Amino acid sequence: MPLKISVRSVLPSREAGDIIVVGTPLLGGGGRSKKNQRSTLDGFDRALGGALGRLIKKEEFKGKKDQQISLSTLGRVKADRLIVHGLGDVAKLTAGDVRTFAAKAARAANADKAKRLVLGIPEGLEDRLREIVEGLELGAYRFTKYLTGDRRPKAELAQVAICLVGEVPKDAKERIDAGQIVAAGVNLARDLSNEPPNVLYPDTLADAARNAAKDANIKVQVFDYKEIQKRGMKLLQAVGQGSEHKPAMVHLSYVPPNPKRRIAFVGKGITFDSGGLSIKPAAGMGEMKHDMSGAANVVGLMNVIGKLKPDVEVHGIVAAAENMPDGNSYRPGDVWGSLDGKSVEIINTDAEGRLILADALAYARSLEPDLLVDNATLTGACVVALGNSCSGWYANNEATAEEFAAAAKASGEQMWRLPLLEDLKDQLKSDSADLKHTGDRWGGSISAALFLREFIGNVPNWVHCDIAGPAMGDRIRGWDPKGGTGHGVLTFLALVDRASRAAAGAGAAPAPSVAKAGPPVEEGAAPIAKTAARKTKKASARKSAQPAGAKGGPKKSTAEGPRATKGADVGPDVGAREPQGRTKTSARKRR
Ligand code: BES
Ligand code: MN
Ligand code: ZN
Repeated sequence: MPLKISVRSVLPSREAGDIIVVGTPLLGGGGRSKKNQRSTLDGFDRALGGALGRLIKKEEFKGKKDQQISLSTLGRVKADRLIVHGLGDVAKLTAGDVRTFAAKAARAANADKAKRLVLGIPEGLEDRLREIVEGLELGAYRFTKYLTGDRRPKAELAQVAICLVGEVPKDAKERIDAGQIVAAGVNLARDLSNEPPNVLYPDTLADAARNAAKDANIKVQVFDYKEIQKRGMKLLQAVGQGSEHKPAMVHLSYVPPNPKRRIAFVGKGITFDSGGLSIKPAAGMGEMKHDMSGAANVVGLMNVIGKLKPDVEVHGIVAAAENMPDGNSYRPGDVWGSLDGKSVEIINTDAEGRLILADALAYARSLEPDLLVDNATLTGACVVALGNSCSGWYANNEATAEEFAAAAKASGEQMWRLPLLEDLKDQLKSDSADLKHTGDRWGGSISAALFLREFIGNVPNWVHCDIAGPAMGDRIRGWDPKGGTGHGVLTFLALVDRASRAAAGAGAAPAPSVAKAGPPVEEGAAPIAKTAARKTKKASARKSAQPAGAKGGPKKSTAEGPRATKGADVGPDVGAREPQGRTKTSARKRR
């Protein structure tokens, strides 16, 4: 349930709730920020008989960033607890800082079993309402659906009264709405990531995508196992066929009336990664329920896109499979074909993510996107390189890299660019197929990215984002909870937002609601504007081939995706493809 959020220009000491959290900039003397300036702390010290001032002195509270004091009010103000949270220099706060502050307030409320939170916002943060609301919703997030009896939380934060010291901005409602929409998308991604693998498997992940699409009024297509085989998505089949829960592929699409750019997002949806026959050690295997976090991000993202309606066409593709050991599992040594046509020698069945992504990328490229972004919990090597709080990403050209870096910066998510080192390509040479799917242990995240690049075809701009570290939190960080985090969604949204503004700037399209709600365009928006302008010609040529006013997805031929008609026909039944593109499947009797 979304929070009930109100915003007023009022001193927090006047507002009633179960808990009051006030943010404060660096304090001057006597608990005031600056002389004669209203402060979020006004009124508290007197009501508390000087107790706040004494505590500030005793604890040497200066209002430095993340410094906190907490006190029981004993009923002397209209809430049981008061928390004063230092924000340091308010002008220097990033979107992430503001989100984290609000998330901490929401967490404090839940920890206190408070249902109504009063949040005091110092002057200068009025125009950060969207981030504040995102932080509240993201901080209030808990995954409690399987808790029973005493373990079920008795109270849950439900209402927030935001008290501004400054003026309430005119577009406050839009900003609050946008913040709630965005946070709901991230929280949806977290929910999916946190679902146990006996509940969430490819079919139920596809159901969740259907629900998210319905909720956001966007188009959804689901390809079942039969369709996957029919279309020649052999790598997805290879990875998924060893499980009782067969693979699925989902295509979500958002097509506004006159889009100037088309972006496709792809997500790895391994609903459980046991490693397959190259089985993982027992320790930590349970974490691999989160191995569908890339797919969860795509579903959460598309839900937001459908509601914020940017001026860009956006597609979301999810490849879902369960990687299990079984008599019917794919094996090291196997050679499989792919939707692209290239043949792949299987080295280690635990490197399954890049295989299902290869088919998903080959499908996505048939949509002819201007920009293709995949995200996946792909390699342990990336976690070794960057730790648990930062994603690693790769781009196939500098303009795209600049654009992605700017989006990551605007979102506040930690993302670090890694290099596509060409010399590591040799590691993917195979004696028995076009490609091996893994290289050496060293540089394992890079060789995985190089493998994926083999499947993007002529797509001009591509980013691969390895979210293996931050997708599954080992502890609370910033606005992220322990467990599934939805890390990536905010950056992808910022990317779409920037493309939408660039498109609006390049053409005569009206500013979309997402642009109104977001942060101001920075200098860094230039590359995409250029890219957009460069693309406009091509894109409009492509659009004119579509029936006028065509809605609900790109033209049929592309929406159906490529069929593997060329290249190595290697798969479960070598050469069994019929001319019509149908594949005979051996009717393997399963227990
Ligand atoms: N899902 C894992 C990667 C992963 C590891 C995600 C740790 C999150 C935390 C992936 O499928 C995998 O097993 N990768 C292997 C690849 C190797 C066999 C080449 C890895 O990273 O060890
Ligand atoms: Mn694996
Ligand atoms: Zn995996």
